[in-house]
Amino acid sequence: MQYIDDSLEGKRILITGGAGFIGSNLALYFQKHHRARVVVFDSFRSEKTFSNGHFKSLGHFKNLLDFKGEVIVGDITNKADLERLETYNFDYIFHQAAISDTTIIHQEEILRTNVNAYKDLLNLCVHQGVKMIYASSAGVYGNSPAPNRIGSGEIPENVYGFSKLMMDNLTQKYLEEYPNLSIVGLRYFNVYGNKEVYKGKTASMVLQLGLQALKQKRVRLFKKGEQKRDFVYIEDVIQANIKAMESKKSGVYNVGSGNARSFNDIIACLKENLGEFAVEYFDNPYAFFQTHTEADITLTKEFLGYAPRFSLEYGVRDYLLKIKEIHANGLWDAIVG
Ligand SMILES: NC(=O)c1ccc[n+]([C@@H]2O[C@H](COP(=O)([O-])OP(=O)(O)OC[C@H]3O[C@@H](n4cnc5c(N)ncnc54)[C@H](O)[C@@H]3O)[C@@H](O)[C@H]2O)c1
Repeated sequence: MQYIDDSLEGKRILITGGAGFIGSNLALYFQKHHRARVVVFDSFRSEKTFSNGHFKSLGHFKNLLDFKGEVIVGDITNKADLERLETYNFDYIFHQAAISDTTIIHQEEILRTNVNAYKDLLNLCVHQGVKMIYASSAGVYGNSPAPNRIGSGEIPENVYGFSKLMMDNLTQKYLEEYPNLSIVGLRYFNVYGNKEVYKGKTASMVLQLGLQALKQKRVRLFKKGEQKRDFVYIEDVIQANIKAMESKKSGVYNVGSGNARSFNDIIACLKENLGEFAVEYFDNPYAFFQTHTEADITLTKEFLGYAPRFSLEYGVRDYLLKIKEIHANGLWDAIVG
């Protein structure tokens, strides 16, 4: 029988962006392991798209099929929608809602959604004594040399990374102004794992390369596949959020595996599990492309007690069961067309 922890009994937890990849994993984690009242707030996907055709909201109801808590449809940029949250007296907010698509260049909309709305939620935390745990990003480091450390090389190359840096700066200001407030920002690196499929082409390369290998026995990579990323498995990201919730230490922390691995390494992990397939290298069309990210997780270990458990090899092997399922039921083609 599943062990249920009573330590959060009676607690109220809000997960913004709870219909998305990381938010839905968090919601279901709490449901499985804790007695707590979990509320998901998300704008869900609609026909609204950006000028490049990408969906404005990537949340999908199918990520929440097993969820037994309450769902509120709302937009974090809409004050009336946010007001609905005031009556709940939440104990914790896990703020994942954002324009997460790093290819969007619409500055006004990204900053309004990612920064202004965060400030409104922080004000709710101040008034109601709520602990805030929010999603920041490795995008704040732009192309600065790795390993990436909090407080150095914070030079974002796109407006998405800038928006996350502005959230982190706002956090420092609120912590100075309200010393009793608890806020933990988590700079996620490249997250991969179950429930990311509805992100479509913005889903991780682990998923996209895995599906190409299964479908075509051939994968395509930017030349020469040696660009490095800190790929972090969803289970470790959930762990970081739980540690952040339990921690008494406010601040901004990196969340990665602590190791940079190349796209060719993903290919090797896939071949290990799926057998041989062809790899085709092509010119990278992007003017901006991070060449090496790697989370320095010293502070995350020390102050949050975070200890990543999944190497790329272990994470890919674990995830492949789901990737095969997505391939078999044709879900990817239905999503990306
Ligand atoms: N997945 C990664 O590798 C990664 C890396 C760094 C940071 N992050 C951050 O982590 C968080 C979660 O990312 P994800 O990968 O789960 O992305 P996601 O797009 O799957 O989830 C974001 C959710 O926010 C919702 N949303 C968007 N705009 C909204 C609005 N105006 N009001 C209400 N809801 C809105 C979307 O519908 C979606 O469900 C985001 O803040 C993202 O920027 C993710």
